[in-house]
Amino acid sequence: MDATAWDARYAGADLVWSSEPNRFVEELVAPLAPGLALDVAAGEGRNALWLAGRGWDATSADFSPVAVERARGLSERLAPGAGPFRALVADALEPAPPPPTGDGYDLVLFAYLQLPGPEWARALAGGVAAAVPGGTVLVVCHAARNLTEGVGGPRDPEVLHDPDEVVAAVADLPVEVVSAELRERPVDGADRPALDTVVVLRRVADEVHPGGS
Ligand SMILES: C[S@@+](CC[C@H](N)C(=O)[O-])C[C@H]1O[C@@H](n2cnc3c(N)ncnc32)[C@H](O)[C@@H]1O
Repeated sequence: MDATAWDARYAGADLVWSSEPNRFVEELVAPLAPGLALDVAAGEGRNALWLAGRGWDATSADFSPVAVERARGLSERLAPGAGPFRALVADALEPAPPPPTGDGYDLVLFAYLQLPGPEWARALAGGVAAAVPGGTVLVVCHAARNLTEGVGGPRDPEVLHDPDEVVAAVADLPVEVVSAELRERPVDGADRPALDTVVVLRRVADEVHPGGS
């Protein structure tokens, strides 16, 4: 789907996704000290807004202007004391928006970005490049196995990625794989859970991983 199609989808509903953060984002980010966060393909910003609510300086980026406008509207509900929040129109296939301060982000999040293999790998490389050494890149996506063993999610196998595929896509990038798992996500009203790929990467310095770009 291109940005126009996503715009139409967002324009057709008050809130396409939940206003709650993704459960794996919540679980894996909760122990991290707040810093600068970039949410790539953030949609209506549910995860970035949650991050801001926990004191992160959060940048929510998506190529759908309608989604970005909605994220900006939702940010007005942030409680006093929340971290800074900005929502930007940005294509995940282009270099990431620069952080408001410093050289990179402490956390780069990909939650359910649906792209076929080569574009997916390019977006991941951009996200890794945007992270500071020591920073975390968290990838959550619909697993390929979800198609046959899970529930919901896109039906196009090209945009579904199992954990080993994510690990292969970052093999030449300056990252360490902290964990790469297939996780079950309960779905209301479904008789079985959805299957998600959840991968945690730690950015290393380029010189530690000279093959990286
Ligand atoms: C399934 S939604 C996920 C939204 C959000 N991450 C979440 O978890 O609620 C996928 C999002 O990816 C965005 N997207 C798809 N391709 C993109 C691209 N090349 N650059 C930026 N955003 C993109 C869409 O506009 C859409 O908002």
